Amino acid sequence: MDDLTDDSRWIGLRHWPRESATRAIVITLLVCTVCSALIATTVSVLRPYRDQNRALQQTARIQEMIATVPGLEDVVDPLASDQLESRLVELATGAYIDDAADERFDPRKAARDPETSLALPRERDLAGIGRRANHATVFLVSEGDELRLLVLPVYGAGYISTLYGYLALDTDLNTIRGLSFYEHGETPGLGSEIENPRWREQWSGKWLRDPSGELRIEVAPGPAPSRDEDARYQVDAISGATRTSRGVTNLLRFWLGPDGFGPYLQRLRSERDPS
Ligand SMILES: Cc1cc2nc3c(=O)[nH]c(=O)nc-3n(C[C@H](O)[C@H](O)[C@H](O)COP(=O)(O)O)c2cc1C
Repeated sequence: MDDLTDDSRWIGLRHWPRESATRAIVITLLVCTVCSALIATTVSVLRPYRDQNRALQQTARIQEMIATVPGLEDVVDPLASDQLESRLVELATGAYIDDAADERFDPRKAARDPETSLALPRERDLAGIGRRANHATVFLVSEGDELRLLVLPVYGAGYISTLYGYLALDTDLNTIRGLSFYEHGETPGLGSEIENPRWREQWSGKWLRDPSGELRIEVAPGPAPSRDEDARYQVDAISGATRTSRGVTNLLRFWLGPDGFGPYLQRLRSERDPS
């Protein structure tokens, strides 16, 4: 009791019997209030560090991916982040949102919030994500004023998990330079083969659309043809992981389509070829 003397006098606890329910409730409330205040203070003090770390982690993943893109090593130093610019895109219009391109944008949180996302009807939800954030951060690698690589974040349902990756496109906005998945929970040795460098390297050089503009990129139902015209748009399926393979096709088709980066890519193309 002695160590409670000052506080007890202040709130009159000293006069309450030891077993009093009111005393127990007041002490519990006091402890809860102090702990909540401590937690709230810690969260707000640490928030800037968390945001900074998230941004650094994202940059590191993209640099890692860029380092694997053939032909870029002579123009881009993957460790020089001044050659890597991030922009926030409004997906519905494809326009850049200039003042909001800050490090605090959290795409996963935005996709959960009905205020900042779009509910996707089942027939349009190819990627199986339910809601799509209204904005997305894209990454541009430039040499001087010239765009050398455009990196788009893509994600969607696999077999038992959501697959998160980055798709890197060449300056023609139709040729893939790389596709890498950095987070998923697929089965090791089956779906997780999407991380295997041998599977990954097949993506480089594939085309998204055919000359008529039809979106044709896909993981083939089996081994990709090596000669015929489809070979330009297909990579091998992962054996024993048909559902993961199909998930990759579906998420690419979604993110390159009208509810994904379609309007953005269309805008970039028409700015590049105004006729
Ligand atoms: C333990 C276990 C883990 C599996 N993991 C995966 C996986 O990561 N990705 C996947 O596509 N299929 C996985 N499968 C296989 C699927 O159940 C399915 O049989 C496979 O995708 C082939 O699909 P299909 O029968 O429609 O061709 C797994 C199956 C088992 C039993």
